[in-house]
Amino acid sequence: MSAAIVGVGMTKFGRDLEHQLPELAAEAIHLALEDAGIDRRDVKYVAFANIGGWSSEFFPLPIVCEYAGLTPTGGMRVEAACASGSAALNAAYMAVASGVADIALAVGAERMNESETSQVVELLGRGGNFFWEFENFGLTFPAYYALFATAYFQEYAANEEDLAKIAVKNHYYGSMNPKAQFQKRITIEDVLKSRYVAWPLKLYDCSPITDGAAAAVIASEKVASKLTDTPTWIKAQGVATGTANLTMRKNFLSLESAVEAAKQAYEKAGVDDPRKSFDFALVHDCFTIAEILAYEDLGFADRGKGYLLAREEQTYIGGVIPVNIDGGLKAKGHPIGASGLAMVHEAVKQLRQEAEKGRQAPIKRGQALIHNVGGTGHFAYVTILSLEKP
Ligand code: COA
Repeated sequence: MSAAIVGVGMTKFGRDLEHQLPELAAEAIHLALEDAGIDRRDVKYVAFANIGGWSSEFFPLPIVCEYAGLTPTGGMRVEAACASGSAALNAAYMAVASGVADIALAVGAERMNESETSQVVELLGRGGNFFWEFENFGLTFPAYYALFATAYFQEYAANEEDLAKIAVKNHYYGSMNPKAQFQKRITIEDVLKSRYVAWPLKLYDCSPITDGAAAAVIASEKVASKLTDTPTWIKAQGVATGTANLTMRKNFLSLESAVEAAKQAYEKAGVDDPRKSFDFALVHDCFTIAEILAYEDLGFADRGKGYLLAREEQTYIGGVIPVNIDGGLKAKGHPIGASGLAMVHEAVKQLRQEAEKGRQAPIKRGQALIHNVGGTGHFAYVTILSLEKP
């Protein structure tokens, strides 16, 4: 059964200790309900993406529902590390596609700044593999992705300046996005001069620690056609898992789960050439190297050539494929559970041509790709959204 996104909402991302977790979630929810033109009582199922740990609410789903005035007849908290938002979309989509609910809500929220950076970095690091990698070797997420970057540098002719190009592009688009955490443009020199976090990754190669929420309303075909003339259809979703232990990976030059999730999504959507099938893509740039790996894993560039797309500025609007034209996780921010749904928010706004001037992609194919990775590829979700009913 087909299902469509009929409403989206998100808070401004950033450091926001003024609002509690339920307040952040409720703001995104109310914006999404308003966008869909429905009442809170119409929501029959809620999938809530949240990692928590860094914030006070330990069992947040009922508190968020109560605060937002939702009375669903089903729901669950969803966790797939940094891909939790896409996992919530998947759960809400399944609730609608299976006929369990006519209208379901996927919402993600985090209040990460409630804890100090050191504690957040530790909690994220424990999301790799606590026993084998965190406790024994102290690996944190910047360190994990530094391993990918050094492997990539060793294999190909890429360098720190290529990584910097990703940060500059994403800050450029973030500067035009009023919802972005960082709305300032930066230069290659700014990136290269910034302090090392885990060599070769510097401050500007990292996504930040973010508070924020995002939500999407998913409706059945029957309800969607009554609510809006511009439903955004979930055309395909590929979901795959990878090993938690890095030692079990074949190499550090690709995320196998992302390759597999893309393969599934492309097969379902009938995508032959990913370079020519989407108006834009939103990819998981938790660190700049991750965006380059995504270019290759998704087939936007041949293996070992992803850095050239960055070097030649082919992922700006007007290039081979515009990528992260909302600022990406790098500049828009990365409130873990909310990030996948913020990508959905952006994709829907872009497809409806409602993005701000200067960062609206030309919409010719009516199709967009979302790539959301959990952990170091423990999970990968590739979602294809389309203005055309599947
Ligand atoms: N990019 C650009 N600027 C950043 C930034 C980032 N990622 N993180 C912080 N800043 C800025 C702040 O806005 C602040 O600027 P100001 O002095 O003008 O106000 C300055 O840098 C210092 O900020 P601070 O909060 O003290 O930085 P920090 O040292 O506590 O945190 C990191 C920096 C890189 C350690 C932290 O952002 C981090 O751990 N990021 C990775 C998060 C992560 O792993 N997510 C999961 C990915 S899968």
